[in-house]
Amino acid sequence: MADEQSADKPGPEQLSAAEIPAGPAEIPAGHPDAAVDELSDFQARDELHRLAQLIAYHDARYHRDDAPEIADADYDALRRRNEAIERRFPQHIRADSPSRKVGAPPASGFAKVRHSVPMLSLANAFEEQEVRDFFDRIRRFLGLGADDPVEVLAEPKIDGLSCALRYERGRLVQAATRGDGTEGEDITRNVLTIDDIPDRLPGDDGPAVVEVRGEIFMDRQAFKDLNERQRQAGKQLFANPRNAAAGAVRQLDPKITRSRPLSFLAYAWGEVSQPLGRTMTEVRDRFHGWGFKLNQPAATCSSVEQVLEYYRKLESERAELAFEIDGIVYKVNDLALQERLGYVSRAPRWAIAHKFPPEQAQTILNKITIQVGRTGALTPVANLEPITVGGVVVSRATLHNPDEIARKDVREGDTVIVQRAGDVIPQVLGVVTEKRPAASEPFAFPEVCPCELQTPVVRPDGEVVPRCSGELACPYQQVERLKHFVSREAFDIEGLGTKNIEAFWQNDLVKTPPDIFQLHRHRDTLLKWEGWGQQSVKNLLDAIEARRRIGLDRFIYALGIQEVGSTTGRLLARSYGTLKAWDEAMSKAAEERAATPDEAKKPERVGEAYAELCGLESIGMTVADAICEFFQEPHNREVLEALEAEVTVEDFVDTRASDTPVSGKTIVFTGTMEKMTRSEAKSRAEALGAKVSGSVSKKTDYVVAGADAGSKATKARELGVAVLSEDDWLQLIGEQ
Ligand code: IVH
Repeated sequence: MADEQSADKPGPEQLSAAEIPAGPAEIPAGHPDAAVDELSDFQARDELHRLAQLIAYHDARYHRDDAPEIADADYDALRRRNEAIERRFPQHIRADSPSRKVGAPPASGFAKVRHSVPMLSLANAFEEQEVRDFFDRIRRFLGLGADDPVEVLAEPKIDGLSCALRYERGRLVQAATRGDGTEGEDITRNVLTIDDIPDRLPGDDGPAVVEVRGEIFMDRQAFKDLNERQRQAGKQLFANPRNAAAGAVRQLDPKITRSRPLSFLAYAWGEVSQPLGRTMTEVRDRFHGWGFKLNQPAATCSSVEQVLEYYRKLESERAELAFEIDGIVYKVNDLALQERLGYVSRAPRWAIAHKFPPEQAQTILNKITIQVGRTGALTPVANLEPITVGGVVVSRATLHNPDEIARKDVREGDTVIVQRAGDVIPQVLGVVTEKRPAASEPFAFPEVCPCELQTPVVRPDGEVVPRCSGELACPYQQVERLKHFVSREAFDIEGLGTKNIEAFWQNDLVKTPPDIFQLHRHRDTLLKWEGWGQQSVKNLLDAIEARRRIGLDRFIYALGIQEVGSTTGRLLARSYGTLKAWDEAMSKAAEERAATPDEAKKPERVGEAYAELCGLESIGMTVADAICEFFQEPHNREVLEALEAEVTVEDFVDTRASDTPVSGKTIVFTGTMEKMTRSEAKSRAEALGAKVSGSVSKKTDYVVAGADAGSKATKARELGVAVLSEDDWLQLIGEQ
C-alpha cells in the first residue's frame, strides 16, 4: 500500500526509517562494558556506532510504536554514555549521532508538517550537582557573579507528548506533533476532540500568528478507565499514560481519539507575530487568559536552594497529583536572557529537566504462578512480598513470557527490583543477584497447563506466548470465556462477577454461556447456598432475563473469538447487519479456508466469503483466520446454536450518519489518493456511514480509483460497478 508508507527522504539530521534497526540483532556489538575513560580510539568509534543504532531503535520503539522496551532511566543512561564518549572523542561524533537528533521520524498515515521554529528537547539533570552546574553555566555565560540571582520558573514536567497549536487571527488552523523536531504529523482533526484546546482565542487583540506549544497527556483517572475498558475487551493494556495518550492522538480516526479523554497544558511557543511578554510568567498569564490550562503548581525561584526545595516538595506530593509527572523543568524567566543564552545542539541552554528517580523498590519474589487467559495464553506472574512503590502497594507483577524470565534470569526466592510505570501492573526490572539464595534454581516454565487436565503447553515457532493446548476443555479457559461473556462490553450481566462465575462453574451450574440462561432451573439449589437469599437470587435471575435481547455487535464480541475485540465486533456487525447473514458468511469463509491448501492462502484464492471478510477495514488475514478457526470448531457451533435458542440478537442499528449520500453503501478504495491518505479516506467514508471493503464484488457500490489503480478498477468495470475518481468521490460526499 504505497500511500500508507510514503518513504521519508532522510534530511541531513534525520535517520530514515530504513536505517532504524529492526531489532537488537541488527545492532553492532560495540563495547558496552568498557568504562568511557578506558576506551581506545578504535573502541570509541565502535561504541558510538552501537549507541547510535541502539538509541535510534529505542527512539522508534518509544516515539513511533508507543511501545518502549527499556526504562526511561536506562535510556537516559545510554544517551549520557554517548555524550560522554563524544566529549572524549569529538573526532568520532557521527552524522547520525543521537546527540544531534530529537525523537523519531514521523509515522506514516498523517500529513507531514514542517515546524517553522524547530521543536526541541530539554537537557536532563538527575543529581543536585547537575542542577548546580546548570546555574553556574548560566551565570558564566551571562557574565554574572557567583552569587547573583538568576530567576527561573519551575514547572512540573508532564509525561505526555508535545504538540504545537498554530492560531492565525485567533483561529486554530493546525496542530502538529513534535516528530523529529523539524517535521511532525498533522493531528488537527484529532486535537479538536480535546476539550482543553480552544479552537478560537478570545478577544481580537491577539497576535496575527501564534503557535502555542504544550503537552497532550492523559490524567490518571482517564488512564485507569481506558485500561479497564481495554481489559474488558480482552485487549492489551497500555503500559503508562504517556503511551495511552500517544496511541489516542495517533488514531487515524478522530472518533477513537474522542473516546479516550486527553488533556492539554500550555508551556511554550513557536512562531509568533509579536512577542507574548517579557518573562515566562507573563506568557503564562497570556496563555491563561486565552483559556489554556498551565502546568501547576509552578513557582519562581532565584537560587539553587529554592529550586531544590520546590523539587523535593513536588517529589513528595507527586503520587497525589491528578496526572503523572516525571520531573521538574527549570526555565530562565527573563525572555531577553533566554535569547542571549540560546541553544546547544538539541536543547536550550536556558532550561533543564530535573528528573525524578523512577518509582522503584526492592522486594522478594515468593513464587511465580501461571495465569491462563480466555484464549489459553499462559502468562507468568510474580507473586511478591507486598511493598509500597510510589504510594501504591504492589504484590503482583507481570513477568510477560518465558523469554523475559530467561533474559532476566528471574527465580523464585530472588530479591527483585520492581518499578511502577503508571497505574498498571508493575514491572520486574531485574534481579539483585547478590541477594540470591544459595539453593536457587532457574525457573522452569511448566510444560503442562496448571489446570487439572494438565494438557501440554504449546508454543509454535516464532511465537512468544505459550498456550494451553486443552482449548475448550481447559477449565481455566472455560471460566475466562464465561467471565468475558458477561463482561461490561459484552452481555453486561449485573451481579455475575468473577466469584459467582467460578462458583457456578465449580458446581456445574454454568459450564458454557448458554447455561447462564438456564440458571433459573437451579433456583432451589442457589437458595440453599450460603449468602444467597430470595432477593439476591431474584436480582441475579432478573438481571439475566433483562439481557435476553442483545445487539449483534455485543453478541459477536461476547463470543470471545481470539482477535475480535469490541471494535472488530462492531465492524463485523455493521458489515453483515444480521446474525443470520454474519453466521452464514463466517461459516462459508471457514469452509473455504478449510478447503484451501496452505500454500494458496491468499484471500482472493481462498474464496469470496473469505476475501470479503479480509477486505473489511482493519480485518486482515490474522483476524479472519481466527474467526474461521472459531467457526470450524464444532463445540463453538453448538454453543452458538444453543445461544440462538436462548437470546434474541437484534440486527445492527448504525447510530452513525444514516442520511449521507454514501450511508449503507459499500466502497472500495484503490490506487494512490492525492488529497488524503487512503486510511484517511476510509475513516472519512466510515464516518459518513459507508462500509469500506478491500475487495470488489457484485455487492460493491463504488470503487474510488486513485492514481495507478490496478486490477480492482478493471474488475469493477467488468462487474458494472461505478468507478469514481478521487474528485468524483469528494464531490459525492460534498467535500468539493
Ligand atoms: S519546556 C525547548 N516545559 O518535556 C523545549 N517542556 O524532555 C521547551 N515537557 O519536549 C520545553 N512538561 O515535551 C517544557 N513544563 C514543561 C514541560 C515540558 C513536559 C516535555 C516537552 C519537552 C520534553 C523535554
